[in-house]
Amino acid sequence: MNHKIYLPGVKQVIVVASGKGGVGKTTVTVNLALAMQRSGANVGIFDADIYGPNVPLMLGVHRRKASQGYMAVARRKEAAPYIQPLTRFGLKVMSIGLLVGEDEVIDPARSPDAVGQLVVQTLKDVVWGELDYLFIDLPPSAGQPQASLVAHVPIDGVVIVTTPQDLSLLDAGRSLRLFQQGGIPILGIVENMSYFVCPDCGERHEIFQRSDKWRPPNLEETPILGRIPLTPVISKGINKADPLMHDHPDDPVAAAFWEVTAVIQSQLAAKPSR
Ligand SMILES: Nc1ncnc2c1ncn2[C@@H]1O[C@H](COP(=O)(O)OP(=O)(O)OP(=O)(O)O)[C@@H](O)[C@H]1O
Ligand SMILES: [Mg+2]
Repeated sequence: MNHKIYLPGVKQVIVVASGKGGVGKTTVTVNLALAMQRSGANVGIFDADIYGPNVPLMLGVHRRKASQGYMAVARRKEAAPYIQPLTRFGLKVMSIGLLVGEDEVIDPARSPDAVGQLVVQTLKDVVWGELDYLFIDLPPSAGQPQASLVAHVPIDGVVIVTTPQDLSLLDAGRSLRLFQQGGIPILGIVENMSYFVCPDCGERHEIFQRSDKWRPPNLEETPILGRIPLTPVISKGINKADPLMHDHPDDPVAAAFWEVTAVIQSQLAAKPSR
């Protein structure tokens, strides 16, 4: 597999990445995808997190009978897509977790390249239909499947999610470099858990101390797409599998997601189509 795969009908592929786990990548992915869908676009999400596929959990979709017994089998290179995605809140959704089972674990240590190939092949095998945007949610690792996706998937832009903390910024820098080396455009950074607004007094608190001292140089030129507050409104939506941008798109907190959505859409619109 030395060439980029073709995803028929998919106009733009957006990868959401971070160097560090637990910074809110999946939370940001599902909310941005919902915001785009609400703005009138056809949107899909591919959960490429082989370590802990959370997209089905956050959207409340479960494995179907039809996908049971899925095996990564050798197929003809040009074989047509055959895996039907699920539909939830108007989004097309497919996850490695829905195919191998949410509780089962793929051991990447056994064969990292095979894991990368499995993810790319599965992405190609899904019947996505006509999509304006396909989001790919990555696991927190700069190894596989990121490397295989960079090599074989026509990615239009990368959104990096970080928290304001130093370590997260450093790790984001590492992940970012891998995309840059692969010639993939970085759309910018979403700073998640950026601040906390006290529900009682309305005061804004910076929970994670920000230190610009450690900001790696390659992040300097990367724009901040937006800052998402740390707030129970977001985590509650995730816990009840009805994310904020579906359940309460008019909430004041939702404004941050709308802002990021608009910036991404205009950046991608300005880009020559492939
Ligand atoms: N802005 C936020 N406000 C409140 N809670 C949040 C926010 N962002 C994320 N969370 C919560 O933090 C937890 C981790 O988020 P999430 O699973 O999206 O992170 P992740 O980067 O995808 O993690 P992983 O690296 O394990 O894939 C979740 O319980 C989520 O509800
Ligand atoms: Mg995640």
